[in-house]
Amino acid sequence: MVKVLFVCLGNICRSPVAEAIFNKRIKEAQLVHRFLADSAGTSAYHLGDPPDQRSVSNALGNGVKVSHSARQVVREDFSEFDYILAMDRDNLQHIQLMAQIQEVSHNGIFLIRSFQSNAQGLEVPDPYYGGKHGFQKVFDVLDDCNQRFIEYLLETH
Ligand code: 4NP
Repeated sequence: MVKVLFVCLGNICRSPVAEAIFNKRIKEAQLVHRFLADSAGTSAYHLGDPPDQRSVSNALGNGVKVSHSARQVVREDFSEFDYILAMDRDNLQHIQLMAQIQEVSHNGIFLIRSFQSNAQGLEVPDPYYGGKHGFQKVFDVLDDCNQRFIEYLLETH
C-alpha cells in the first residue's frame, strides 16, 4: 500500500481538498487497495476543526466531498507515509526541518506542484485570507496535480 500525506499550514483549506480529490480519483479507478491519502498541517492553529466551509462548498460544487478533522504533522508520519507533499515552500521547509531534527531520512518529500508539467517551484497559494475565486484556483491546481501525481504513481509502483 502506497500512502500519501498532503500538507499545508492549517489543514483546513488546501490539504483536505488535495486528500479528497486524490481519494476520489483512486476510488473511481478502483485502486483503493493500492493507494491511500491523508492530510495534516504544520501548524496547530485549527486542531480538530473541520475543513473551512469555503473549501467544502467549493469542492462540492466540483463534485468532491471533503471531510476531515485537522491534525498536525507528527513524527510517526515520516515512517507511515511514502510521500509527503507540501503545498508551498514554507511548509516544505517546515517538514524538512522536522525530519532533520528527528533524524529521519525520507526521500518522498516534495512540493506538490513539482508533479505538474511547467510548474517547477510553483506553490499552491494560500486561499485563507482571499476571496471565493482563490478556492476555485486552488481546486483546479490540486486537481491537475493529483492527475499527474497518480500517473506518476502508476508508472513507479
Ligand atoms: P491552509 O490555509 O493552510 O490551506 O489550511 C490556512 C488556514 C488557516 C490559516 C492559514 C492558512 N490561519 O492562519 O489560521
